[in-house]
Amino acid sequence: MKGPRTSAGVVSIKGQAELDKMRHAGRVHARIMQRLREMIEPGVSTLDLDVVAEQMTRDADCVPSFKGYEAHARTPYPATICAEVNEIVVHGIPSDDERLKPGDIIGVDLGVAFEGYHADGAFTVGVGEVDEESQRLMAVTQRSLELALEQVKPGATLRDLATAVQEYVEGEGFSVVTALCGHGIGAALHEPPQVPNYVQDGDPDSELVLEPGMTLAIEPMVNAGGAEVRSGADGWVVVTADGSRSAHFEHTVAVTEDGHRIMTAP
Ligand code: MF3
Ligand code: CO
Repeated sequence: MKGPRTSAGVVSIKGQAELDKMRHAGRVHARIMQRLREMIEPGVSTLDLDVVAEQMTRDADCVPSFKGYEAHARTPYPATICAEVNEIVVHGIPSDDERLKPGDIIGVDLGVAFEGYHADGAFTVGVGEVDEESQRLMAVTQRSLELALEQVKPGATLRDLATAVQEYVEGEGFSVVTALCGHGIGAALHEPPQVPNYVQDGDPDSELVLEPGMTLAIEPMVNAGGAEVRSGADGWVVVTADGSRSAHFEHTVAVTEDGHRIMTAP
């Protein structure tokens, strides 16, 4: 069903059958993420994580949403997960020679599709002991996602979500990445609307009013230093411009009559 229009296009309103498929994808997603969390320790490579994620996705009769994805780069995305080590903000391609070291932080971003419907989510975690600032960066980013999720209900606007993230993160002395956004999700991994984590004055899309059946991937990306990011040589990886660390948490959520439902919850 069609919903309101934004500058990125028309926002789709999902029916129950579509929501059920997304929830199924989300349950599989949560199970895989739990397994990847358990694998994270010094010496593990980011490719090791990718291999397990792809196998578990396919064993569940699902398809990796990111693999082969071709929207904003020269080459199709080659992997099942994005591995976001330390200063990598998003879209780090897993590699055999990227081994996790004590003190690193790693974000894992995964997309799973079941019968054509997607669930997208990410978490960031420390490898062994990590320094106090990194711990705070991860905790603040996770909390900022929770604060955004608390806003999700019929009648709320995208501005409410963005305000919740930005005010909290900046109050904690960190920076919200503005070059990248969350997004609508459903039959495509990326659908309208864009879901920014910062308030843009005069942006008409930020007045979009949420209604039941909308499904969003909310994904704050937070840098310990400045907000600026750069793209790397492989055409995919995005890193902080100042080399500071970055954290990323994401859930896929559906707007319901009385609030919301997190599709990527266990
Ligand atoms: N969660 C990220 C996003 O929604 C990851 C996408 S990786 C890509 O943009 F390969 F699919 F682009
Ligand atoms: Co996403």
